[in-house]
Amino acid sequence: MRVALVGLGVVGRSFLELVAKNRGELVSRYGLGLRVVFAADRSGGIYRASGLSPDEILDAKREGGISRVANTRFYANVLDALQDFEADVLVDATPTNIVDGEPSYSIIRRAILREMDVVTVSKGALALYMPALKEMASRRNVLLKFSGTVGGGMPVLAFARECSRADRVEAIEGILNGTTNYILTKMEEEGLDFRQALAEAQRLGYAEADPSLDVKGLDTACKITILANEVLGMKANVHDVKVTGIENVSAEEVNRARYSGKAVRLVAFAGDGKIEVRPRELDVRDPLAVKMAMNAVRFKTTFSGSHVITGKGAGGTETATAIIRDITSIKIKRTEAGENA
Ligand SMILES: NC(=O)c1ccc[n+]([C@@H]2O[C@H](COP(=O)([O-])OP(=O)(O)OC[C@H]3O[C@@H](n4cnc5c(N)ncnc54)[C@H](OP(=O)(O)O)[C@@H]3O)[C@@H](O)[C@H]2O)c1
Repeated sequence: MRVALVGLGVVGRSFLELVAKNRGELVSRYGLGLRVVFAADRSGGIYRASGLSPDEILDAKREGGISRVANTRFYANVLDALQDFEADVLVDATPTNIVDGEPSYSIIRRAILREMDVVTVSKGALALYMPALKEMASRRNVLLKFSGTVGGGMPVLAFARECSRADRVEAIEGILNGTTNYILTKMEEEGLDFRQALAEAQRLGYAEADPSLDVKGLDTACKITILANEVLGMKANVHDVKVTGIENVSAEEVNRARYSGKAVRLVAFAGDGKIEVRPRELDVRDPLAVKMAMNAVRFKTTFSGSHVITGKGAGGTETATAIIRDITSIKIKRTEAGENA
C-alpha cells in the first residue's frame, strides 16, 4: 500500500518509527506492505515511487531538512504534489486548526478528489466540516478514518461501534483532554491554584507553551464533536458546542469538592440534541473521575447500560498506533471488496 504522509512532527515521526519496527508483523498478520512514497512537512514534500525508508526521512528531518534525501522529486507545495503522484492512502498528521481547519481541510479534500483513502489525526477540519467531508468521501468511494483524533491510541471509536451493535448509543460523556485533567488533578492533590498547576504541567511537557486550546476546552470540544457526528449521527460542528474551560476553576472549589467526595473534571457531553463541555463535579467513585493525563469515555446505550473505556489519551507512539490501526482496517475493507490494496 502506497502511503503519502503529511506532517513530520511528534505523531508523523512516531508513525515512521512504528512502520520501520512493525514492517514484518504487518505483512505476516495482515498482508499489509506499507511503502511510504511521499513525506511532507512545512518546507514541502519529497516523493519517490519506489518508496522512502523511514530512517532516511527521519535522519534528514533531524539533520537539516527532508529536501536532503537523495533521488527524490521535491515539491514546494503539498497540494500540487497530491495532484501529481499516485498513492493509496493519505496520512494527515498536520496541526489542529479550529479557525479554518487548514492545512488539513485542503489536504484531505485533495486526497479525496484523487480517490486516495484518508487517515487523519488532525481534529480541526473534522470538527468544522465533518458531515461534508464524510459525504464527499462516500460519494467518491473513499474511506475516511480518524480514530487517532479522539483518545490517542485508545480505540474509542471502535469501542463505540461495538456498543452500538444490536443496541443504540444515546449519550456520550467523557474526559477527553489529558492536559486539563492533569491540571485539575494537581489542584486536587496538591492544593495548587490554576496558574501554579498550569505552570507545572508546562514544565513537565503536559501542556503546550500556548495552552489555550486545552484550557479553554476547545480541544475537548473538537473531540466531542467528532464523537457526536460519528457515534450519535448528529450533524454538528464545533461551534454548536457550548464550551466552558477550566481557567476560572478555583482552588477553593476543587478543595470543597474533594471534601465532599467529589472531583472537579472537564466533562464533555453529547446527547438529547445538545453538546457541551464544562467543569463538573463527579463522584470520586465514578469511573470517569480518572486522574492525571488519563482519558475516559462513557457510552450510555438503550439496552445494555453504560460502558466505559479508559486509557492514555495522547502521545506520539499511541496516536501513531491509531494510524496503523486505521490503515489496517482500510486494507481489510479493500481486500473484502475485492480491490487491490
Ligand atoms: N501529539 C499527540 O499526542 C497527539 C494526539 C492525538 C492527536 N494529535 C493531533 O495530531 C496532529 C499532529 O500532532 P503533532 O503532535 O505531531 O504536531 P507537531 O509536532 O506540531 O507536528 C505537526 C507537523 O505538521 C507539519 N506541518 C505544519 N503545517 C504544514 C503544512 N502546511 N504542510 C505540511 N506540513 C505541515 C509540521 O511541519 P514542520 O515539522 O516543518 O514544522 C510538523 O511536521 C495534530 O493535529 C494533533 O492535534 C496529536
